[in-house]
Amino acid sequence: MRALITGSNGQDGSYLAELLHSRGWEVHALDRTAGSDVATIARHHVGSVDDVETVDRVVAAADPDCIFNLAGMSSVADSWADPVAAARINGVAVVALLHAALRQQESTARRVRFVQASSAEIFGAAERVPQAETTAIRPTSPYGASKAFAHSSVGVSRSRGLHASSAILFNHESPRRPLKFVTRKITNGVARIASGEDFTLSLGNLEAERDWGWAPDYVDALLRMAEADRPDDYVIATGVSRSVRDFVRTAFATVGIADWERHVTTDPSQLRPVDAPVLRGDAGHARRVLGWSPTVTFEQMVERMVHHDLELIARGDA
Ligand code: GDD
Repeated sequence: MRALITGSNGQDGSYLAELLHSRGWEVHALDRTAGSDVATIARHHVGSVDDVETVDRVVAAADPDCIFNLAGMSSVADSWADPVAAARINGVAVVALLHAALRQQESTARRVRFVQASSAEIFGAAERVPQAETTAIRPTSPYGASKAFAHSSVGVSRSRGLHASSAILFNHESPRRPLKFVTRKITNGVARIASGEDFTLSLGNLEAERDWGWAPDYVDALLRMAEADRPDDYVIATGVSRSVRDFVRTAFATVGIADWERHVTTDPSQLRPVDAPVLRGDAGHARRVLGWSPTVTFEQMVERMVHHDLELIARGDA
């Protein structure tokens, strides 16, 4: 089996490349910059999913059995600053990829599968908690709107005969998370404070609730979707939501700091014009059809991330 992963340099892309490689897949990748992981990637294409000619050329050259689309603008905060880029990279680019996949399937008479990394942000200020595949799509951020368009486009290409699935991924974290996301910002900040390198951590909205899972589990769900008999939409989530405040408290508890409040300040620049209040997913459909369930608890995930950041600091790499 041959895969084309867009966004293989990111958190999810790198875990997915490792997983597919370990299962004997040949992995091709499309990224804006060349990656360093030659061991798991057979061929690395450099270019943007934003460019239709690049997409057409790379899909034809890779001739994949499955395209995993993980490229895009992943920061909801960034999408408020540049909503046009969000629409282009997370929305229009997905239509180009789906169209290229369909054309490749028609010209080779071989099935091309497609797995889209969609997002819980499509639910925005959700009508119900927890959210499932049937929950109304009503995004409240430019990021969510771009992902909602892409999610609908996957459904359209499915009705045209593409084995295209959409993974409605709730937040998923790991030591590979960039610092611009709140979890890694917190675990890095806590490790720095515990090591005496810093005293305060500046954050935005502490009341938002997110359903945080372990990224490698979510990548495993993407592979299960690719291998499923039928394409579909799947919520991938733990079913448990915690507030940002809870995350902070748990991370500080890992290093034995109970009076964490004196280390945390509010930074108004981190507040968003609109922030979805509670995102919590019901992954019952994925459990029943794909046999998927999360393997790592919230506490284990926080502990792993904090310990990783402590080690980086101890090695002088942070
Ligand atoms: N980034 C950030 N920085 N977020 C903060 C901060 C801060 O200093 N303080 C509070 N938050 C809050 C945000 O307002 C939000 O409610 C929550 O922390 C999580 O923010 P992020 O970690 O930036 O992630 P996200 O929920 O916006 O988006 C992630 O999850 C989506 C799925 O729900 C990303 O992974 C998206 O790509 C993904 O689609």
